[in-house]
Amino acid sequence: MIRETTVGDTEEILALYPQAFPDEELRPLVSALLDRDQVVLSLAGFNKKSLVAHILFTICGTEEQDQTGALLAPLGVLPSHQKQGLGSSLVKSGLEKMRAKGIGQVFVLGDPGYYRRFGFLPEQHVLAPYPIPEEGADAWQSLSLAPRAPLSAGRLMLPEPWMAPDLWKP
Ligand SMILES: CC(C)(COP(=O)(O)OP(=O)(O)OC[C@H]1O[C@@H](n2cnc3c(N)ncnc32)[C@H](O)[C@@H]1OP(=O)(O)O)[C@@H](O)C(=O)NCCC(=O)NCCS
Repeated sequence: MIRETTVGDTEEILALYPQAFPDEELRPLVSALLDRDQVVLSLAGFNKKSLVAHILFTICGTEEQDQTGALLAPLGVLPSHQKQGLGSSLVKSGLEKMRAKGIGQVFVLGDPGYYRRFGFLPEQHVLAPYPIPEEGADAWQSLSLAPRAPLSAGRLMLPEPWMAPDLWKP
């Protein structure tokens, strides 16, 4: 079962991230983003009543363009529930909701081997907020959502919780 999360899910969402990303501390970022519910879409997957997977989309634009883009991140599935299609279901469901909101392009910094299956392609026109090192350049990807046009070139402008260089290492 997949649904948008509520304030009542926050504790479980924050408990999921250290398990999905044992080497990264994403809780301050996720917590700060969940507080900005005007600019984020937060979806979770449940097994019975337990929250086992979570994804966030942050609405954003470039310097020249209004909020017609979105950043997909983070995405996490509890290790015990990985490789069962939950991550894919959250991505697909989120992309549908982005399209319905009139979002024209979704960006992600992640493994191309995973995101390619949804149609993400390397992004060269719109830049991440911080430079991506050359060796990880193919991790910066985007997917255009018709019928809206993709964003024109420029640097992605994101809310303050995203403005930390350490979050932009592939
Ligand atoms: C990456 C992650 C979100 C995928 O979710 P999931 O529910 O396990 O994945 P799904 O069941 O939807 O898809 C499974 C497929 O993805 C592949 N896959 C899983 N993790 C992958 C990764 N990091 N890179 C490339 N492929 C990956 C699997 O091999 C499998 O491939 P197949 O369909 O060809 O057999 C999840 O494994 C996870 O939370 N990992 C730890 C945190 C993380 O790395 N998040 C990535 C955010 S960029």
